[in-house]
Amino acid sequence: MKLTIVEDYQWLSVVGAQMVAEQVRRQPGSVLGLATGGTPVGMYAELVRMYKEQGLDFSQVITFNLDEYVGLASSDPASYNWYMWHHLFSHINIPLENVHLPNGIAVPVQDECRCYEQAITRAGGIDLQVLGIGSNGHIGFNEPGTPFESETQVICLTEETRRANARYFPDGNVPTHAISMGIKSILKAKRILLLAGGPDKAAAIEQALEGPVTVELPASVLQLHPDVTVVVDTAAAAGLTKAGSEKPTHQAAG
Ligand code: PGA
Repeated sequence: MKLTIVEDYQWLSVVGAQMVAEQVRRQPGSVLGLATGGTPVGMYAELVRMYKEQGLDFSQVITFNLDEYVGLASSDPASYNWYMWHHLFSHINIPLENVHLPNGIAVPVQDECRCYEQAITRAGGIDLQVLGIGSNGHIGFNEPGTPFESETQVICLTEETRRANARYFPDGNVPTHAISMGIKSILKAKRILLLAGGPDKAAAIEQALEGPVTVELPASVLQLHPDVTVVVDTAAAAGLTKAGSEKPTHQAAG
């Protein structure tokens, strides 16, 4: 694993965006695996800036998002589909047909899971997968205990995850289930970029990077992948005993 510790959220966003941009410039038809949540919002804003000011070209890029809530239509402002259009897709030149998210209202949902996994394979697999991490160590919505062999499936969300995401549901109706790429789906990506910021992520980052590889801490499985870059701010890096003494860098190359 390559670890980059940056000073703050702004640098986390810039360094993350630089890695995505480098992938897209090198391979214009890249298949990107994308994440939602609070963490990548700044990275998406930086990618939009690069598109507008530097002409970063997304016209051949294909995207697959990690997950979507079961029961939410793409028109629902709390859906991840809506999130992606709001933060990224509406502001760049990616063709509509190149964008993929699980359909949260598909029936039967198991068919949707199978088709989603097949669509990723048909696209040639993911070249660069962006990940956040839950404070319980989940990646995508793969909660503790999810088998490493899992592919796209329906996940029953833990109370901790539902509490963490309650801020996006002012009416209090936080969904109980989500469709998520599985651990195996994620590990099939050629490269992985894990982003984490803030003190709430420090324990999960420490266990993911320095603890045992266990299904109880899903992100620990990333230790088994040959090409993972972890970008964390100093707060999220605070628990790292092996690398915790490193000085934060501002630059990706640092
Ligand atoms: P966050 O979520 O970016 O909103 O902290 C990350 C996650 O739960 O995977």
